[in-house]
Amino acid sequence: MQNLITQINQAQNLQELEHLKVQINGKKGVLTLAFAQLKDLQGEAKKQKAQELNTAKQEFERVFELKKQELLHQEMLQKLEQEKIDITLFSSNHQGRVHYVNLMIEKIVDYFALLNFEIKNKTLIEDDFHNFEALNIPSFHPARDMQDTFYFADSKLLRTHTSPVQIHTMQTQSFPLRIIAPGAVFRRDYDLTHTPMFHQIEGLVVDQKGKVTFANLKFILENFIRHIFGAVEIRFRSSFFPFTEPSAEVDMSCVFCGGDGCRICSQTGWLEVLGCGMVNQNVFDSVGYENVSGYAFGLGVERFAMLYYAVNDLRSFFEMDLRGLK
Ligand code: PHE
Repeated sequence: MQNLITQINQAQNLQELEHLKVQINGKKGVLTLAFAQLKDLQGEAKKQKAQELNTAKQEFERVFELKKQELLHQEMLQKLEQEKIDITLFSSNHQGRVHYVNLMIEKIVDYFALLNFEIKNKTLIEDDFHNFEALNIPSFHPARDMQDTFYFADSKLLRTHTSPVQIHTMQTQSFPLRIIAPGAVFRRDYDLTHTPMFHQIEGLVVDQKGKVTFANLKFILENFIRHIFGAVEIRFRSSFFPFTEPSAEVDMSCVFCGGDGCRICSQTGWLEVLGCGMVNQNVFDSVGYENVSGYAFGLGVERFAMLYYAVNDLRSFFEMDLRGLK
């Protein structure tokens, strides 16, 4: 018995310990057998032997429990050592990849680049003239409200749309023009479908008067939308923008329900995808273009990406959550 207790103290692992326990306390363990033999004793001898065995049993249980705790602790330390992870490291099976907003921009720009559109990238900080005035947006227009626009102290502002690229381009180049201008824009907005920064793509085509018509605009945009979304129905809905006249908004049949009506298209069967129109004469006047006609269009990249990749919360695009990218 004493020998077994010494062995318990020297046990190297829980398995060994369990094995010793069986040898002592199991069905044929030394203690079990010794207790069984008590029945052969009588009187004082029996009492004494029973006391002895009880003391031995208690001693065994004490030593066993101590050792068990010690081994458990050791085992945990070993595990911690072996399974140590550096949580600041990226797991090696995450591959970097292009964000889906940028993928969408690439997809769209590629389409127009094939049609010989020139790609323009301009500054995000604009002045009142380029962002509003030259685009026929008068000073009393609600878009100029502090509610919508981020202003700097020096009357500069963060562009609220990509349309100022139209003005910059016409100020520095002469027609014919075919440009596409992707980039970030900023508005004071934050909810399920709006973030303070998002991306637009602007298109502008200008040539001698009469050479660019609404029919050209319609043809290009219909082909473009079907290039991205496949065989959808498309409709042009009369609308208003200060910088185009006439203006239209373009809808496509809902890509989720096929036009039957669902939550995403608000049961209308249609999804609005872009704004467009013939460039307003006042815009040409503000840059000194004469005897020209042209069309322009603008679209929200995130909206395209939401519809294309079936994402329902715009904010998830910008929350740095890698699960989305995966
Ligand atoms: N700039 C407009 C907007 O931000 C979109 C647009 C661009 C509409 C060009 C017509 C022509 O909503």
